[in-house]
Amino acid sequence: MSRSLTSIADLSDDDISQLLELSRIFLEVNQREIPKVPALRGKTVATLFFENSTRTRLSFELAATRLSADVLTFTLTTSSVSKGESLRDTAETIESLGADLIVMRHFSSGSVQLVSSWLEIPLVNAGDGAHEHPTQALLDAYAIMEHFNTGKRLDGISVAIVGDVLHSRVARSNVQLLSRLGAQVTLVGPPALIPLDLSLWPARATNSLEDVLSESDVIYMLRVQSERFTESLIPSMSEFSRLFSLTAERLERTRKEAVVMHPGPIIRGVEIAAEAADSSRSLIRTQVTTGVGVRMAVLYWLLGANQGRLESIW
Ligand code: NCD
Repeated sequence: MSRSLTSIADLSDDDISQLLELSRIFLEVNQREIPKVPALRGKTVATLFFENSTRTRLSFELAATRLSADVLTFTLTTSSVSKGESLRDTAETIESLGADLIVMRHFSSGSVQLVSSWLEIPLVNAGDGAHEHPTQALLDAYAIMEHFNTGKRLDGISVAIVGDVLHSRVARSNVQLLSRLGAQVTLVGPPALIPLDLSLWPARATNSLEDVLSESDVIYMLRVQSERFTESLIPSMSEFSRLFSLTAERLERTRKEAVVMHPGPIIRGVEIAAEAADSSRSLIRTQVTTGVGVRMAVLYWLLGANQGRLESIW
């Protein structure tokens, strides 16, 4: 079994620092006229997504292509899963085809870890249920550091993560990573959408967005993931929006230097108003661009860096 990236806890402080450094190198590559390097030539990266995705899948596939790897794309609806093939058989087939790494997204928490125990090749978790989404956290940390010019730490930065925290793998990974880097994180949402037991979350929590507006450097908004609801947790979307949407008026009441973030997809008019999403203080598009370089770093780190390929980045 090779080293995989399934959660932020898999990473030592040194690993995080190396990944952020590699991200810087690959984001520079992405600025070039020909944004492509031979670093992973001859390697094959497979994307195995059991849940829909726009940004994450395209970003991983673009990252692999820019490292000159070959890309194998598994599509759920046209695959043999629809004929009843199991997760294990599907994953083993992809490994037997010759994939060197699998980027996997699945609706079950812990599934990526489970698959990695069956295979020899590394896996990257691109989101497992409501559990973790480590590359999203890495790209968010990078984007915040770049914006506030804080070097390789986030000391003194306060981040409010707002909305449906309960179902958010993005929130889970971000809280772990951002707090390890020194940021102070506050979770904000209605009581039913904040985890009951916060003992393993290095974060504060509040049910009032008004409380954090004027004291946060980053307002990180989350989509309401109704597809993961097993019961009715909020009275209505309009009630949720009334209390927790980042409106133009609320944006006005944030610090002048505060920025707005969101992992996407954004639902305009529900958790975030167009004025906030499109404002000059929004880092939403920067997050997407940063994601390509950060995912190049992760793929390279798992497939190239330990195999004497460092010199072949260029
Ligand atoms: C998120 C996800 O899928 O976890 N999006 C993403 O990967 N950028 C969040 C969401 O679906 O709301």
